[in-house]
Amino acid sequence: MSRAYLDHASSSPLRPAALEAMLPYLTGAGADPGRVHSDGRATRVALEDAREAVAGLLGARPREVVFTATGTEAVNTAVYGAVARADPGVRPHVVTTAVEHSAVLESCGRADADVTVVGVDGRARVAVTDVLAALRPDTALVNVQLANHEVGTVQTALAALAGETRARGVLLHVDACAAAGHVPVDFGALGADLCSVTAHKFGGPKGAAALLVRRGVRLPPFVVGGAQERARRAGIEDVPALVGFGAAAAELSADDRLAREASVARAQTDRLVRAACAVEGVTQLGDPDDRLPHLVCLAVEGVEAEPVLLGLDQRGVAVHSGSSCSSEALEPSPVLAAMGVDAERSLRPSVGWSTTDDDVTMFVEAFPEVIGKLRALRA
Ligand SMILES: Cc1ncc(COP(=O)(O)O)c(C=O)c1O
Repeated sequence: MSRAYLDHASSSPLRPAALEAMLPYLTGAGADPGRVHSDGRATRVALEDAREAVAGLLGARPREVVFTATGTEAVNTAVYGAVARADPGVRPHVVTTAVEHSAVLESCGRADADVTVVGVDGRARVAVTDVLAALRPDTALVNVQLANHEVGTVQTALAALAGETRARGVLLHVDACAAAGHVPVDFGALGADLCSVTAHKFGGPKGAAALLVRRGVRLPPFVVGGAQERARRAGIEDVPALVGFGAAAAELSADDRLAREASVARAQTDRLVRAACAVEGVTQLGDPDDRLPHLVCLAVEGVEAEPVLLGLDQRGVAVHSGSSCSSEALEPSPVLAAMGVDAERSLRPSVGWSTTDDDVTMFVEAFPEVIGKLRALRA
């Protein structure tokens, strides 16, 4: 049976251009890019080319790109680094929105800092005034995501917020892991100090990510024990993965590719929403207009997420729920809880570079039947 993979927002398959670029570094060229022999210098060139491509996609300077292994590591580096900058004896304060990814929420929770969590409205939008009201004289860091990973809402408040935090000398970290590669990210224009991105959400390999650090911002490393990444992230670089990251970024930067993929994704997810919301008791969550093009979140009245996911899976359709996966069960979603909506009955289909209209058709046909059967069982 053919399958429709509609879970790109969890992880997207590897783009062929990325695989092709990686192969020589997986099968042969394996030298440490920190060595002075010509083999090492050759991998160094490949790494720096990748850095330029990633910087180019994200409107950053190559030297502002600090490669990490995952988006989670980039986020941890931002949070722990900002907290470590505080003056000795001062317990700093950090601000986060309630709808950040667990990487942000948990690193803030564990850092040696006071934390203020700013709420959102029913569409997951944060208000600039609420973030500013949370600032204190000892605030070291503000975290606001570029767009939400579960409902897709884009934080349009960021543009106004960056000027305010800069004026107050407070670092602003933007988690763009869900957004990068799907909407334009211009780190320079955004005005943020720190920005996390990850390759596997847009067809780069897993194990490649970056923290963008604005020129002039000194951030202590999170991973220590070596001078790699200009002493900002220790440990040997995963050259094949980072070369793949660069190739995926270069592909998106060429020929208006990002905009073209985004417009196809928007049409596909609009179709998903129309079909799903034609079923009684199904509504769209998040901001229907200011949203990521490739993911949508649906509230399904009366049936839990898990049997819907399993029912769709049996029909060959892979989607995720807004609820997060613990070891065996689906946990209620903190994002949806913060929005004040039912946190246990959501579905998050998402598309990406390899999604075909036939994949969407499989969802459109399977979804009403799966919901109908589950509701009939209940009745
Ligand atoms: C908004 C956001 N931040 C951070 C991450 C973590 O990225 P990674 O999977 O590369 O660790 C994710 C991935 O789910 C995400 O969606």
